[in-house]
Amino acid sequence: MPRPKISIIGAGNVGATAAHWIASKELADVVLLDIIDGMPQGKSLDLLEAAPVGAFDADIKGTNAYEDTEDSDIVVITSGIPRKPGMSRDDLVATNTKIVKEVSKKISEFSPDSIIIVVTNPLDAMVYVAAKSSNFLKNRVIGMAGILDSTRFRAFIAKELKVSVEDVHAIVLGGHGDSMVPLPRYSTVNGIPLTELLPMERISALVERTRKGGEEIVNLLKTGSAYYAPSAAVAEMAESILKDKKRILPCAAYCDSEYGVNGHFVGVPVKLGKMGVEKVIELKLNSEEKEAFRKSVEHVKGIVSVAEKFYE
Ligand code: NAI
Ligand code: 2OP
Repeated sequence: MPRPKISIIGAGNVGATAAHWIASKELADVVLLDIIDGMPQGKSLDLLEAAPVGAFDADIKGTNAYEDTEDSDIVVITSGIPRKPGMSRDDLVATNTKIVKEVSKKISEFSPDSIIIVVTNPLDAMVYVAAKSSNFLKNRVIGMAGILDSTRFRAFIAKELKVSVEDVHAIVLGGHGDSMVPLPRYSTVNGIPLTELLPMERISALVERTRKGGEEIVNLLKTGSAYYAPSAAVAEMAESILKDKKRILPCAAYCDSEYGVNGHFVGVPVKLGKMGVEKVIELKLNSEEKEAFRKSVEHVKGIVSVAEKFYE
């Protein structure tokens, strides 16, 4: 049986590292596409040459031509500019709207049956742009952010409690920005609520660090943004889809009426399987969580309306 095929558009830091995770887990053959001549070809060849040592069987091809992406099962959009210190994710909207619009049109032409995973920032608006430009059914266009924000929260909790990361589960809802909504009430250590393990002021400090997690890395790197954790999150989504695992993962998904959101992509827990988003899971939120989520959705709506201006 042929291996599934994942194309990654944008062979920069996130794209190339996603290729690494995907190939090393033998999830699929990978096509890495970029507009820069030679760069995706060079990175792909380098990764292919790592396969015997890494003991993974997967084909990896670098290209500048969409023909090579034809009939992909999943296409990941990582093309676009990342932020630098002092910039917010929203500062990227003008440039990245144009890129994501053009790339999504190509995806619908060459891989009309694929599932699109969007990574480019500002994430919630770029998922909207990808859905509009590809004209795909909304369950087949999914944004990656919630897994990243949650894995940051999980890592901070594990370090604080000195426990294995494997036992820590956490969930972050809302838009991928400073208004994101980490949910301590729904975060557990092997089933034990976090709220029973840590005092509220320590939880609040970890929540705040999670909200600013992207900025913390940008300020350290100075030339770009995070890529190991974001690309690992992409691989987790791809695995759940390709193996039809139906994992419950926080992703930017289209909400028709769920959580009171009418027609926007926002971070919510979803069931991820071979059809893409197979269900949006509605959690019972208390009044404080509801208010934080409402504010975050308002922010998402604002940035989507800015993206709409640059879309034409
Ligand atoms: P990068 O600058 O390393 O790579 C971007 C690549 O896109 C470059 O190689 C560039 O040549 C390519 N590109 C630009 N226009 C293109 C086009 N039309 N077609 C194909 N390729 C094109 O940036 P990095 O660090 O990989 O980040 C990529 C994007 O992902 C940024 O917008 C960043 O903000 C976002 N991001 C989002 C995260 C999330 O949680 N959703 C997490 C991390 C990054
Ligand atoms: C992050 O949170 C860049 O949005 C990306 O690291």
